[in-house]
Amino acid sequence: MKSDQMDGGRSAIESSSRRAHENTNNEASRSQVSDGEGASEPFAIEMNGLGFTYSSGESEGSTRAGQPAFSLRGVNLAIPKGTVSVVIGPSGCGKTTLLRCMTGIIPSIIKGSLFGSVKLNGREIAGRGNGESGSSAIAGPNEISLTAGLVMQEPDHQIFMTTVEDDIAFGPENRMAAPGEIRAEVNACSRFVGLPSRLTDDPSTLSGGGKQRLAIAGILASAPDILLFDEPVGGLDDSGRAMFATLICELKEIGKTIVIVEHDYEEFSYADVWILMKHGEIISAAPPNETDRGLLEGELWR
Ligand SMILES: Nc1ncnc2c1ncn2[C@@H]1O[C@H](COP(=O)(O)OP(=O)(O)O)[C@@H](O)[C@H]1O
Ligand SMILES: [Mg+2]
Repeated sequence: MKSDQMDGGRSAIESSSRRAHENTNNEASRSQVSDGEGASEPFAIEMNGLGFTYSSGESEGSTRAGQPAFSLRGVNLAIPKGTVSVVIGPSGCGKTTLLRCMTGIIPSIIKGSLFGSVKLNGREIAGRGNGESGSSAIAGPNEISLTAGLVMQEPDHQIFMTTVEDDIAFGPENRMAAPGEIRAEVNACSRFVGLPSRLTDDPSTLSGGGKQRLAIAGILASAPDILLFDEPVGGLDDSGRAMFATLICELKEIGKTIVIVEHDYEEFSYADVWILMKHGEIISAAPPNETDRGLLEGELWR
């Protein structure tokens, strides 16, 4: 990608950041996942005793005799602002479910039994301990989407509009940005992800990688504090992967909080925390160089 494209994207990211929420804390040295006790300011993401069981379908526990059908169980997590976390674990262990809980998609759209609590920037988004979907969520989906944005594993699930530019514009329109600002955002974000020549195209004409780039541009334009990526580079070619690596570094530099589900975790050895999941539980959350390699390369996958 050309440097002028990156510059354009970067200025979009930075201006969005200034406009949106400025109370970020970008000290990598404080970035370990912790239990949140005694913190002087809210964490970006805090989960306490989080458990979730989907209303329908197979879940992790149901395959094992005599166990409840949970997809998440006993999750305690506190992610400081301005950090990069990578979630690692075998297929079906609950990574996507965890991200869905971080955006309120669970329980507001995807239903099931939820226990425990989820807070974004200190504000609760999911009910505490009552086991009923969404009954005590305090922030609406619109408000949550301005705080935390998710790039889903399957980009088709989040592309709704009939042109690329309208799809990127959805986020800034949602936060009622001025028309000139929306235009600038669309131009900069589309340049950043390498789609500047596709603005008037129907998203359905994009390749898989193109859709993934569009989904990323849409989240960038929404300018949330917290950006969540579910296996974001799967459909991308080498230049797309390079774009994504650049993006993460730039987002971290301006103090965004980032959570990435990714199998190629070695690509993210600079992350602040690697979170290891198995059977719906978090079994380790530590900086890469303190993560038990035996666990990571063996037991985790068995
Ligand atoms: N929409 C759904 N409805 C029912 N069960 C689901 C749904 N999504 C995921 N699950 C189940 O929840 C468990 C965790 O899935 P998921 O979070 O997608 O894992 P991962 O992302 O680590 O592969 C799995 O057993 C999966 O079958
Ligand atoms: Mg998944």
